[in-house]
Amino acid sequence: MKIGVLTAGGDCPGLNAVIRAVTRKAMAEGHEAVGLWRGYAGLAERSYVPLDIRAVSGILPLGGTILSTSSYDPYRHEDGVRRVAEAVEQDGFDALVAIGGEHTMGITRRLHEDHGLPLVGVPKTIDNDVPCTDYTFGFDTAVQIASDAIDRLHTTAQSHDRVMVIEVMGRNSGWIAVFSGIAGGADAIVIPELELTVEEIAGAINARHRRGKDFSIVVVAEGAELAFASGEKRQVRASAETDSYGYPRLGGIGQALASEIEQHTGFETRVTTLGHVQRGGTPTATDRVLATRYGIKAAELVIAGNFGHMAALRGDEMTSVPLSHVEGVKQVDLHYLKIASTFFG
Ligand code: F6P
Repeated sequence: MKIGVLTAGGDCPGLNAVIRAVTRKAMAEGHEAVGLWRGYAGLAERSYVPLDIRAVSGILPLGGTILSTSSYDPYRHEDGVRRVAEAVEQDGFDALVAIGGEHTMGITRRLHEDHGLPLVGVPKTIDNDVPCTDYTFGFDTAVQIASDAIDRLHTTAQSHDRVMVIEVMGRNSGWIAVFSGIAGGADAIVIPELELTVEEIAGAINARHRRGKDFSIVVVAEGAELAFASGEKRQVRASAETDSYGYPRLGGIGQALASEIEQHTGFETRVTTLGHVQRGGTPTATDRVLATRYGIKAAELVIAGNFGHMAALRGDEMTSVPLSHVEGVKQVDLHYLKIASTFFG
């Protein structure tokens, strides 16, 4: 079989570990792997990269993706789908492994359903919000980076009696905020799934100070809205730009929230925005293992001809689900927020 591999959407620690695992498993079973340059754009533009032992050697600990990535969506380009389907047929691909987030899984499902393309999905995102799978690789690395940052910010918060607001990633869900908040001992966590008004946050910080705690750590997910008791709400964006999937460029809620907290409490409030630091660099050992398991599973699905499926983690079992089941966004299990809230105040 000639098996194409692509990475689409934002980069994520562990992508290279998946590429390596798919390639090595395919080769071990007598098949050929070929990389597609910059996600689905690689098919539309017929831009390929050979994947052999040498190409995937030494990439296990590397962040980013050796195949480059893009948010090219063939359904948003005239002729995009036709070009992709023609490339698969004319260039002799027997199967494709698409590694991406929920939007890429949607494209992959449509291409399989509408055109019978032999596709298998692998979920990736630091946000951990792809449905039908318990954890995506990259999440553990992002949580580790955010927790390290919270630990470091704690010392300044404590020494100067300050409120520290830390903005973490999470476009549609607060998984990173909740997990790093638990790991770092946050005093308030603000996520897209649960509205918390500025007045409630300020009230909790004031109550904490009355109880003798002169500093506070607030973790906010970039996709959370700034909400007020009056009912006013707003999403804070870094700019008016959208990416080629049509998603807004988020960022800035941390600064907006910090200003409001300072006004409402009178306490000096500083902000740190972690941004892409959370997505960069080497994956944790846990993510390398998880990404490797995803890659092996994807190769197995391909070799078995099990197309239209996504590799998925359920409990500790690596399994698969039909791509048709993978819809929407997996929100944070609020049970985790309840655990975190035991330590607020
Ligand atoms: O989906 C992962 C993610 O890091 C989100 O948390 C964030 O909103 C988005 O990607 C940022 O994407 P980009 O780097 O394309 O602006």
